[in-house]
Amino acid sequence: MQVEKIIKSEIITKKRGMRLDIFLKKALFSKDGYYSKRNPIGKIKDFVTAPEISQIFGEIVGMYLYYFWKTKINSKYNLIELGPGKATLFMDIANSVSKLPGFLEKSEISFIEINQKLIKLQKKNTKTLLKNIKWKKKINFNSHLPSIIYSNEFFDCFPVRQFTYKNVWFEKYVNFNRKNNSFYLENKQVNNKKLLTQLNFHKKNNLLEISFERNKYFENICKFIKKNRGIFLTVDYGYLNNNKNFTLQAIQNHKFSHVLENIGEKDISSHVNFEDLINIAKQNNLKIEEYTSQREFLLKFGILERIKTFNKSRYKNKINIGIDRLINNNEMGNLFKFLIVSNL
Ligand SMILES: C[S@@+](CC[C@H](N)C(=O)[O-])C[C@H]1O[C@@H](n2cnc3c(N)ncnc32)[C@H](O)[C@@H]1O
Repeated sequence: MQVEKIIKSEIITKKRGMRLDIFLKKALFSKDGYYSKRNPIGKIKDFVTAPEISQIFGEIVGMYLYYFWKTKINSKYNLIELGPGKATLFMDIANSVSKLPGFLEKSEISFIEINQKLIKLQKKNTKTLLKNIKWKKKINFNSHLPSIIYSNEFFDCFPVRQFTYKNVWFEKYVNFNRKNNSFYLENKQVNNKKLLTQLNFHKKNNLLEISFERNKYFENICKFIKKNRGIFLTVDYGYLNNNKNFTLQAIQNHKFSHVLENIGEKDISSHVNFEDLINIAKQNNLKIEEYTSQREFLLKFGILERIKTFNKSRYKNKINIGIDRLINNNEMGNLFKFLIVSNL
């Protein structure tokens, strides 16, 4: 609750609300924030991700990346995972390519991670790998090697700003009511000219949720790939066109909960605006290799053929339940999207 106290005292002392994205950044990434101090991933934690559901997810991603490397790079390169969680996806990729020469041997591996608890887990879970891994907070954009970069459920963690248009633009701020001892959201009119120009570009939408920080992070990766060659594969929950809803959500113990309660104790995320990311990739002259639902991607690259090999396994039912969760449109199948951009 330390982070909640800090936010409350800052709002009270300054006698003004805190911009939503600044609030989110403090709640998630400050010293005591949600992502700085705990492992949120697992059945008895807050949420479960695709690699934790089935190893086949990582195997298919691994085969896709291997094929790309073999046909388009086939030399020394950077292999970079953003926000590797428990390193499950990485190890599934590594295992799937272990008998294919080159991919691991020629890689310079980096994990981009800010969570100390997860870094410890990642070190433990990658112990069997006979390769050096470098842990960093940011990608080293000074490298001159081509890169294979990938992430799963990384961009949903980025702070967003929320705007509404009612003849003029308003932005959401978080404020604190001392009488009720509770946080609340308030609208403040936008006056900044540069921001108004950006918002007016979207006037057709009365609601607008933007993560400038996410877009900038993605843009830097696009520029890096453009400069040195490579590919970026990213998977997340998100949409192409969303003019109707704000998507900010809080999850604790696998259940939706209130964004402004128990601050610092729960995951707060938003759906990724893939239209923004695709536009940025195009502006940087990258090729859109794939933009497709998780279901379509996994089917296209052989998930049904792969599960046939488990037909005689005593874990067959468990495996099938996991695969259904990954590809069923009522589960993760349609909500999650694969975006893959490259310059090769
Ligand atoms: C939702 S978890 C997903 C973990 C893993 N990719 C998986 O699929 O299981 C998000 C991961 O990204 C990390 N993370 C979030 N924002 C980050 C940032 N700006 N820089 C580095 N790591 C970040 C978190 O600590 C965590 O490891």
